[in-house]
Amino acid sequence: GKPVRVALLGCGTVGTEVVRLLTDQAGELAARAGAPIELAGIAVRRPDKHPELPQHLLTADAAALVESDVDVVVELIGGIEPVRSWLLTALRKGKSVVTANKALLAEYSAELSEAADSAGADLYYEAAVAGAIPLLRPIRESLAGDRITKVMGIVNGTTNFILSAMDSTGAGYAETLDEASRLGYAEADPTADVDGYDAASKAAILASLAFHSRVTASDVHREGISSVGASDIAAAKALGRTVKLLSICERVTADDGTESVSARVHPVMLPRSHPLAGVGGAFNAVFVEADAAGELMFYGQGAGGAPTASAVLGDLVAVARNLVAGGRGPRESAHAALPVRPMGHT
Ligand code: HSE
Repeated sequence: GKPVRVALLGCGTVGTEVVRLLTDQAGELAARAGAPIELAGIAVRRPDKHPELPQHLLTADAAALVESDVDVVVELIGGIEPVRSWLLTALRKGKSVVTANKALLAEYSAELSEAADSAGADLYYEAAVAGAIPLLRPIRESLAGDRITKVMGIVNGTTNFILSAMDSTGAGYAETLDEASRLGYAEADPTADVDGYDAASKAAILASLAFHSRVTASDVHREGISSVGASDIAAAKALGRTVKLLSICERVTADDGTESVSARVHPVMLPRSHPLAGVGGAFNAVFVEADAAGELMFYGQGAGGAPTASAVLGDLVAVARNLVAGGRGPRESAHAALPVRPMGHT
């Protein structure tokens, strides 16, 4: 079929892997999608800083690339503006969007999915939560016929690495964070991870999808790990427990039968026999509970270039298949929204 033309916005760790996979596996991807997936341009802040990328594809003008003759925009820049405007422009013109931007989705997924639905475009973001782990598509599609009651798990690799290391070495928080930074597991500015903002954004995305609701990051009760000390870990150990930073999203039914959504992020002392207690290093793991399905567990690499690129490529193939078939993926905006419980009610 006619090639599916892709604009890539941003080319860091994940983008570089996306370009590599699109190039190395072009034949297989085309066979799976039903049409060649063609990279039409790559927008980066400084084209002269990317000698490794195909030079004729590079541009510093992301806005112009979005407006050009492309079918799909893959966004791996992050942050709210100017990315939000670019993606709304793309969607309103009927171009599909694949993004890993958890902060943007946690605030504006309603606006973005309404724009996508109105224009008949696709919006996929598997890579925004739990990296390589297929999690959003199972919640959105495989469990669409069931009633999800709870989504709970470890969705931040950095804090899980730190807590796991504190548990095995007995070292303090600050010392372990320094070590994590030295090893490249923590960002230069680890605030979003250690203070729970990253996990709260992911909880907002998960709760919105699981409960057909509109949960934003500010609706999520949030407590990070910076106040977890060596003595807390030791006390947990003495009780046969370990400390994990969990994101917990629940459907709550009040005495009068009214339902609402509760979402929170905080450290939890888990019995060592709990499956989430054994999740080490930078891995992620999430439990999903649904009325008919019962309990499901998802586990794997939640961050990193190649694992996250795997999720982006999966979305890209899904979008390409939809384009080839002349259809689109599941609609999201027509929800009978469940109210969100005020913060602090847990
Ligand atoms: N900083 C995030 C983490 C990256 O540590 O999990 C993946 O979203």
